[in-house]
Order: sequence, then C-alpha cells, then structure tokens
Amino acid sequence: MNRFQFFIEATRNIKQAGTVTQSSRFLIKKMLAPIDFSQAKTIVELGAGNGCITRAILKKMQPDAQLLSFEVNPKFVELLKNIEDERLHVIDDSAEKIPEFLAKYNSTQADAIVSGLPLAIFSKELNASIMQSIIATLNPEGVYTQFQYSLASQGMLRKKFDAVKVDFTPLNVPPAFVYICQK
Ligand SMILES: C[S@@+](CC[C@H](N)C(=O)[O-])C[C@H]1O[C@@H](n2cnc3c(N)ncnc32)[C@H](O)[C@@H]1O
Repeated sequence: MNRFQFFIEATRNIKQAGTVTQSSRFLIKKMLAPIDFSQAKTIVELGAGNGCITRAILKKMQPDAQLLSFEVNPKFVELLKNIEDERLHVIDDSAEKIPEFLAKYNSTQADAIVSGLPLAIFSKELNASIMQSIIATLNPEGVYTQFQYSLASQGMLRKKFDAVKVDFTPLNVPPAFVYICQK
C-alpha cells in the first residue's frame, strides 16, 4: 500500500486511524531507538496500520524473537498478513487484549511495546483498559514507546508510568511527539 492508498484508507476511518499519513522513517527511528533488540524476545505492536513500523521492527529483531501486532482495520490486517515472516503474529483484535494473546503465544510479558494508537481520540474507558493491559504485561525492565501528534496524553501517561520521557520529530506529517515510558 503506497502513501496515497494509506491516505484513502485512513480518511475513510479517520476516527479509528487518527491520522491520514503513515509514519515517516524519522519517526520510526525515534520509536525504536529506546528498545534493546539484543535482549527483546517478545515485542508487542499496537495499531500496526499498513505495517511500516512492523517491518522496521522485524528487521531489528533477533531470529528467535516474536512480534505480536494488533490492528482493528480489516484492510490493514489483510496487508499485515501478507508480510512473510514466521516471527510475526498479526492479531485482528483490539489493543487491550494483550494479556490474552501473549498467553496464546506462550508468553506472559512483553519486553517492548510500540504503539501508534490514537490515544487522544479514544474514550477514557478505552484508554484506561489499554493502559491496564500495557502495565500488566510490560517487563519491569522493558520500554513502551508511543507516538502522538499532541501532548494531550502526557498527563495520563505520567500518572500511569514512573518514568516518561518526551521526544519530538518535526520530520513527520504531522510532526510527532514520542513518549518513552517505563514502569
Ligand atoms: C496513527 S495510525 C498508525 C499506523 C502505523 N503504525 C503508522 O505508524 O503509520 C493508528 C492505527 O491504530 C489502529 N487502531 C485504532 N484503534 C485500535 C485498537 N483499539 N486496537 C488496535 N489498533 C487500533 C488504526 O486502525 C490505525 O491503523
């Protein structure tokens, strides 16, 4: 799916996608920089979209690591399922189901969680239940990276995590903030 096709699909479902463009390589680099790929055995991706971050994670992952990528848009799920890599499990279900699917793939915790979910447009209840799942499953040494186009979710993230750093890249449409969260 090229950038134009992503734009069409995202605008058809703007309230779910929360954007009209896929992430730039600059944003992807910032999202993955805090992850220790030499140690990470289970990585969770939330809101995988057309797989632009999924592919970058797979490139960096160890051969014996696994990636669980959650996505609710059926068109994007179809694209993700076309990625041929045995380490990737595409999950066509909502992000708050992390514990259930980690168990399915013989894991209890995620060494890293990478998310492009549009938290700022989600209901309070959905945010609370996604945060609960992230906190319950993130390895105490692990890292959760989340991009957003505003600082609207900063307060909520700071309440939930002991350490939250904020990075920023202007080299994305729109420019994006990256939250780096640890328990
Ligand atoms: C801002 S886009 C990010 C897409 C891609 N990761 C990127 O960086 O370009 C957010 C994605 O989250 C997906 N999404 C929205 N709600 C979701 C949910 N509850 N569970 C999983 N994915 C969800 C949307 O369908 C959309 O593909």
